[in-house]
Amino acid sequence: EKYYIFGEHKMGGTLGNKAVVGVHCYSSKDLYNWTDEGIALKMQSDPNSEIVLGTILERPKVIYNPKTKKYVMWMHLEFRKGPTAKSTDIADILKEKPDYSTARAGLAVADKITGPYKYIGSLRPNAGKYPLNCAEELKAYKAELEKDPNWKSKKLKKDEYKKAMIKGFAFLRDFDKGQMSRDMTLFVDDDSKAYLGCASEDNSTFHIHELNSDYTGFSGKFVRVFPGGYHEAPAFFKKGGKYYMFSSHCTGWAPNPGRSAVASSIWGPWKELANPFVGADSETSFHSQSTYVLPVPGKPGQFIYMGDRWTPKNAIDGRYIWLPIRFEGEQPVIEWLDEWGIEN
Ligand code: DGJ
Repeated sequence: EKYYIFGEHKMGGTLGNKAVVGVHCYSSKDLYNWTDEGIALKMQSDPNSEIVLGTILERPKVIYNPKTKKYVMWMHLEFRKGPTAKSTDIADILKEKPDYSTARAGLAVADKITGPYKYIGSLRPNAGKYPLNCAEELKAYKAELEKDPNWKSKKLKKDEYKKAMIKGFAFLRDFDKGQMSRDMTLFVDDDSKAYLGCASEDNSTFHIHELNSDYTGFSGKFVRVFPGGYHEAPAFFKKGGKYYMFSSHCTGWAPNPGRSAVASSIWGPWKELANPFVGADSETSFHSQSTYVLPVPGKPGQFIYMGDRWTPKNAIDGRYIWLPIRFEGEQPVIEWLDEWGIEN
């Protein structure tokens, strides 16, 4: 067996917070020793490409579709904006202010796991569609909002804003053009159905979207989860028939306490559990943010937490931590360990 890991190719300094090289791939037979498989998806030098150098490309994930025999990569994209947006000069890219208003899910496909991946395009999921849950409430709220023809540009006061987000203001604002998709993850269930989970609605509310059978688009089925809960950095796993989600709070690049949740169906209802991290530095998730949960090879029911340690001032120095997950009842628990082994 072989394992593959995909990640943003980082550069030194703040340039590394933007993608100037692409998505890097490594492989391993034992999860300890890694082989560099090179750049799986390359950033493009055509200034009109959606993945021109300097685009923000975050959290790429790859899944295999047995029906089409293709490897499918989804990623979070933020297009370049401003007067230098068409320049491929590194000095311009470096100076450009990061802009997170695009919030699109990008798609690339390959015949081989290591690539080359062909960039297909990007989209905002499920334009013009209501979720499986809370659709009636949203429709009623839409009717109420539409009494004011300028409702989309209405300035909301802080307390009003919070209530409006919970009720789905940003959802309805983006209804026609599609839902925002920022921090994202992919999850393939035992029945081969795949899902994209993402921070949506100005990050206030999490969405879980079912992919179509090719994994290259959306089936139209989705749910809103934790309205107004501000979950970022999602990672799903399944244990004993239950679905678990790790996530973080929303504090930019700075680490915060981890979050966990459980559900009997991917569609919820999702129940928020406690911070899975325990002991010293649990309030910073041991200086990390969830990125993936890896089922332990050959040990059903055992999982590894994978977290990113962002260092936005010198992005290339961002590292991973991997720690085993244990359970106390339904609560996943992660303790700091200076050293541990997958075989134990
Ligand atoms: C938090 C997210 O989890 C990261 O992936 C990244 O988008 C930063 N925000 C940017 O500030």
